[in-house]
Amino acid sequence: MRHLLDTRTLSRDDALRILDVAEDMRDTQSREVKKLPTLRGKTVVNLFFEDSTRTRISFEAAAKRLSADVINFSAKGSSVSKGESLQDTAQTLQAMGADAVVIRHGASGAPHTLATSGWISAGVLNAGDGTHEHPTQALLDAFTIRKRFFGDDSRGRDLAGFHVAIVGDILHSRVARSNVWLLTTLGARVTLVAPPTLVPQDVSAWPVTISYDLDQAIASAPDAVMMLRIQLERMNAAYFPTEREYSRRWGLDAARMGSLPTASIVMHPGPMNRGLEISADAADSPRSTVLEQVANGVSVRMAALYLLLAGERPTTHPQEEAR
Ligand code: NCD
Repeated sequence: MRHLLDTRTLSRDDALRILDVAEDMRDTQSREVKKLPTLRGKTVVNLFFEDSTRTRISFEAAAKRLSADVINFSAKGSSVSKGESLQDTAQTLQAMGADAVVIRHGASGAPHTLATSGWISAGVLNAGDGTHEHPTQALLDAFTIRKRFFGDDSRGRDLAGFHVAIVGDILHSRVARSNVWLLTTLGARVTLVAPPTLVPQDVSAWPVTISYDLDQAIASAPDAVMMLRIQLERMNAAYFPTEREYSRRWGLDAARMGSLPTASIVMHPGPMNRGLEISADAADSPRSTVLEQVANGVSVRMAALYLLLAGERPTTHPQEEAR
């Protein structure tokens, strides 16, 4: 794997390889010494043009646990705010010896441009581009579902037979898009649930079922309900009457959660708007995987960095190296 730009073009084999390597990484993270020497001497640059806390920190933790050097570059207060182009920024980082660039950008397609422009030779990881994709988020979500349902027996398994409902602001969500492609590649069935105003126009070309009714979707007994954040910062118009009305119709609360099958899980990529798309009791219930998603994110990003920077067929297994 040279780059990780999207899940739309990620094959089932590559997806399972990342998830399985992430299992190995997770095993190493329960040890007292969490650090592996695998990427010693490599430099990972976090290039963030959009605000982010958890994704940047997660990539930073992942790179450091593999012993890579990490340079955090956030566009605010940098030469980018003085008008420097993506090309100049990228070439500067390349000249400093970056082996991998983790990029988050407000423009859909920016990571793809970076990877294919010939400006840099580093591997590119998309950490969220506009409303397009957020591949490591979808991978950590798939990892979390697999782990909850199969536990230690997760390796090699896909999600055939699973039904996932993705609920809320689909229109602005790169998390929803990356999950639609990855979950269906792994064999799961996906239902998108949203008010009509928050469903993208091109959705008819996606391999999903659309529902405008959360209660109906819950009655169909999904294995996982993934609540999305209402992205108020990307909204320049009124997409729903009031927040209260939104919560009443499309929010997950204790009553709706109680109608789910006992084994079903509740997911959210964070950051949560508690009281809007998800109530506090739903977010904090034992069904909620919110904190597992955060923890698994580090393992999945370790796996992605490892596969990009250490090659597909390592001579030593990451777990063996740590011994
Ligand atoms: C998501 C993102 O930035 O796309 N969050 C994240 O990666 N932690 C989802 C969101 O912002 O709602």
